[in-house]
Amino acid sequence: MTKTNVQAEALAGLAELAREVALKSYSPYSGFRVGAALKLTTGEVVTGTNVENVSYGLTICAERSALVRAVAEFGPGIRIAAVAVVNLNAAASPPCGACRQMLAEFTAPEAPVSFPAADGERTMTFEALLPMGFEMKL
Ligand code: THU
Repeated sequence: MTKTNVQAEALAGLAELAREVALKSYSPYSGFRVGAALKLTTGEVVTGTNVENVSYGLTICAERSALVRAVAEFGPGIRIAAVAVVNLNAAASPPCGACRQMLAEFTAPEAPVSFPAADGERTMTFEALLPMGFEMKL
């Protein structure tokens, strides 16, 4: 099997886990159910789903929900090797800007990120998804 096929299969497996967790989405305000699965460089997979709030701005996206769960479970040294995002609404849902910036802290530039785009399922490297995220070098 080629490297691309191995990657595609691994991402499909991650997307399946993201789909399962999306069933647990708390999204009474938008009805938009999102799931994210993060594969760590150590092999573990951590999933998360969106949790909304009546004060809409406090909502946490699926990607950040998975990220905070990963840090809580495996500590501050985690590195993310691959990301899959899905939704149960048959709609596009590329990771939002806030989630990209949060993921940047822990994600390798070459890590593949798969998500439903307007033109269908897409996989991009993390650095292509967030080419110039905020950095602070004091
Ligand atoms: N949402 C995510 O979970 N991930 C994103 O990257 C963008 C949006 C959620 C937040 C909210 O619960 C719903 O989708 C509609 O915006």
